[in-house]
Amino acid sequence: MSILTVTASTGSYPVLVEHNALAQLPQWLAALKLRGTLWLAYDAALEALYAQPLRDMLGAEGYSVKTYAIPSGEQSKSQQQLWQLYDWLIGGGVERRDTLLALGGGVVGDLAGYAAASVLRGIGLVQLPTTLLSMVDAAVGGKTAINHPLGKNLIGAFYPPRLVVADTATLASLSPRERCAGWAEVIKHGVIRDVALFDDLERYAAGGRRQEAESRSNSTLVGEQHASDRLSADSEQLADLVRRAVKVKVDVVSADEHEQGERITLNYGHTIGHAIETVAGYGILLHGEAVAIGLHAAASIAARVGLCDTTLVMRQQRLLHAYGLETQFPVGIDRDAILYATLRDKKVQNARIRWVLPTAIGRVVVRDDIAPALVRAVVLELP
Ligand code: GLY
Repeated sequence: MSILTVTASTGSYPVLVEHNALAQLPQWLAALKLRGTLWLAYDAALEALYAQPLRDMLGAEGYSVKTYAIPSGEQSKSQQQLWQLYDWLIGGGVERRDTLLALGGGVVGDLAGYAAASVLRGIGLVQLPTTLLSMVDAAVGGKTAINHPLGKNLIGAFYPPRLVVADTATLASLSPRERCAGWAEVIKHGVIRDVALFDDLERYAAGGRRQEAESRSNSTLVGEQHASDRLSADSEQLADLVRRAVKVKVDVVSADEHEQGERITLNYGHTIGHAIETVAGYGILLHGEAVAIGLHAAASIAARVGLCDTTLVMRQQRLLHAYGLETQFPVGIDRDAILYATLRDKKVQNARIRWVLPTAIGRVVVRDDIAPALVRAVVLELP
């Protein structure tokens, strides 16, 4: 079944994860009685590929559709860009019964989501994620935000969408590097809550290694292929794995919408991941690439504390590598600066870092009593 349901304080909403799911958007809008004008805000890079066809399709179904291209990149999560969205919406006569469609990755979803949350005190919002990262994470759970010069996502709101449509066919437009980066969050979801997902990710990767070995013995192999590359040509398998990763997010945010408890487990790998992004400078590493290193560091800390054994650390590392992700710190990066940056993590409480640490594949605990000296030793020792 490809439809998942998030339970939110404002009511539940469906999450559709399927190959070519966007073709079903008109019928979903009708079923949810979203009948006003549709305000389609999209990543400018998606203009010809998805935005225009979507506008034409919705227009042909009788909807009034207005469009706005958001420049690609994190710098669009700004006050200026938010104001331009307000100009477009208010200047164009937006009404309360209207719906904003956010088509793109996390930047578009966060920015347009916050515009929908705040204009006229809230209009309808539909998330249409087109990256693996936004499908399995940002588009589900109602977090919307822009950045402040003092930090990422510091101004925003919890604002659940009315609908999420994740069309896994759109992942074909990602660069191989972006595609690999997205698997870090999928693997994270396996480790925090779904051992069967983790096992299947391993099985898929192992299947590919077998195929490679066979073709090598037939001397027809052309270079190394990561599991993420093979999955992009395997639409059913891709949709299945993405759906199961999304389900982890759906279950976690349904249990803890406003991050009072369990939702923090989604932060696994992000304390050091975010710190690496801060120290390396935004845009140097993709978010998923930094998270992959953070996952390895967090698991290594867990093993050092005695929460898990090193087999878990190695299994997770092997899986990250199989999906094309590095686990080594960037060459020459200032590790003391990374340790310092972890103290500015949004999840720090009373100056204590709340670490999300695995005890087994599929299970994590939150600990705020990990000795800084132990963390420092691990961060300095890791390759
Ligand atoms: N990205 C983490 C969360 O949605 O809570």
